[in-house]
Amino acid sequence: MTHTFPENFLWGASISAHQTEGAYQTDGKGLSVQDTRPRDNHEIADFKVAVDHYHHYKEDIRLLAEMGIKIFRFSIAWTRIFPNGRGEINQKGLQHYNAVIDELLKYGIQPYITLNHFDLPQALEDEGGWSVRSTVDAFKVYAETLFEAYGDRVKHWLTINEPNIMLLVDKKILGKEIPLQEKYQQFHHLMIAEKYAFKRCHELIEGGQIGPVPNISLVYPATSKPMDNQAALYFNSVRNWAYLDFSCFGRYNAVFKDYLNRNDITIEFGNDDQELMENNFPDFVAMNFYTTVTVEKPTEKDGMANGISDQQSEDIMEWGFYKGFTNPHLKKNEFNWTIDPDGLKTTLQTLYDRYHLPIIITENGLGAKDELTADGKIHDPYRINYLEQHIAQCLQAIEAGVDLIGYSPWSAIDLISVHEGISKRYGFIYVDRTEQDEKELARYKKDSFYWYQSLIKTNQLPS
Ligand code: BG6
Repeated sequence: MTHTFPENFLWGASISAHQTEGAYQTDGKGLSVQDTRPRDNHEIADFKVAVDHYHHYKEDIRLLAEMGIKIFRFSIAWTRIFPNGRGEINQKGLQHYNAVIDELLKYGIQPYITLNHFDLPQALEDEGGWSVRSTVDAFKVYAETLFEAYGDRVKHWLTINEPNIMLLVDKKILGKEIPLQEKYQQFHHLMIAEKYAFKRCHELIEGGQIGPVPNISLVYPATSKPMDNQAALYFNSVRNWAYLDFSCFGRYNAVFKDYLNRNDITIEFGNDDQELMENNFPDFVAMNFYTTVTVEKPTEKDGMANGISDQQSEDIMEWGFYKGFTNPHLKKNEFNWTIDPDGLKTTLQTLYDRYHLPIIITENGLGAKDELTADGKIHDPYRINYLEQHIAQCLQAIEAGVDLIGYSPWSAIDLISVHEGISKRYGFIYVDRTEQDEKELARYKKDSFYWYQSLIKTNQLPS
C-alpha cells in the first residue's frame, strides 16, 4: 500500500462563522438564531466573543498558511451582510469578508465558502424561519449577493451546512423542537434554497463550483435480523440519502417518501420547485464525518419517547422505524461519540457508488479537553491518532477508486462547540480562554499543528 496522496490533493482546515468570529454586534451585524439560542448549560461559553476570529483573522490566517493548508473552509455570517436577513446590504460586512478572502489569496490558500452554517438571521426566524417560503426567497438574494461580490475570486462554494443534523436535532441547533410535519416542510425549503444556490452560482460565476454539505454517516444494523436491517435502511434514508438524493438526483427518495407517508406528512411544493429540483445539480459533494451510527428495530418493551438527543450518540428513537444501539465493536471519545475510521472508508465508497461525484471531506476531527502546559505547549497525541486513522482510510478509499479530492478537518482553530462550549476543543491552534473568562485569547500551536504541517508538506502519511 502506498502512503502518498495524489498530487494536488486539497489539504485544508475548516471553521464556521458563529463558532469563531465573536464580534456579534460589531460593524452593523444583526442577531442570528445562534446569538439568541438558549444554551442548555448556561455555564458554557456563548458565541458573543467566541475566539474573536473577527479581529484576529490576519493572525489566524498567517498561522494556517504556516501550517501549509491549500484550502480554507469558512462560512459567512448572513447577518453581517443583511442584518435582518434581507433589505439593504451592510457594506461593512461585505468589506470584512473581502478582506478575509484577499488575505487568504495572499498566501495562495483557496477559500471554500459555506453560505450558511446554522446561523439563520433572527429577523427571518421571527417570521417563521425555514418553515416559510419567504426565507427561501431571502436566501436566494443573499446567495446571489455573495456570488456577485466575491465570485471573481472565490470559485468554490458550499450551500447550507448539515441540513440533516439541523433538522434531526432541531432543539439543540435551532433552539426549539418542531413537529414532524413542519420539520419536513423545512426540509423541502432548505433543499429548494440549495437548488437556487446551485443554479445562481453556475449562472453568475465563471468556473464556479458548488456542492451540498451534509453530515454523512453510514448506518449499520445492530444484528443480522432482517428487521434490524430494515431499521438501518430507514435511518440511512432519513439521515443521509434523502438529502443527497434531492441534491444529486433531484428527487424524493422512495424509502423517505414512505417514511413521510407513514407519518402523514404532506409537503407543499411551490410552482417552480419541480423544474428547479430536476435541473440543477452540484459539481461535488462535501461531507462532514465524525462517526457511524448503529440501529435496531424498536420493540414493545422499548418504553422510550421519540427523539434524538445528540447528533452522533446512539440516543435515537423513532417508533416503528429505528432505535439507536451501542455498537460493541467501537470505542468512544470522552464526549460519548463512537470512533469508526473503517466506517469512513465504507461511507466514502457507498457515497461515491451512489452519486459518482468528486467528494471532499469538509469536517472530521476529535473534540477533546486539551491542556495548555506551563511552557505554552499542547500535547494532543489522541487527536493526531484520530486524524491519522481517518486519513489512512481516506487513502484506502482513493485506492479503492473513490474520487476523494480533499480533506479539510474540523477545526482549523479552537472554536465554541455547538453542544459543549470551549471545553470541547477541535483545533490545530489552541485559543487560551475558558468558558467564562476570555483572557487574552492568545493563540498557541498544538502538537497536531506540527504533525499536520509535516503531513501536508510530504503529502503522505508516515509509514
Ligand atoms: C458538525 C457541525 O455537525 O459538528 C459543527 O457542522 C460542529 O458546527 C461539529 O462543531 C461538532 O459538533 P460539536 O457539538 O462537538 O461542536
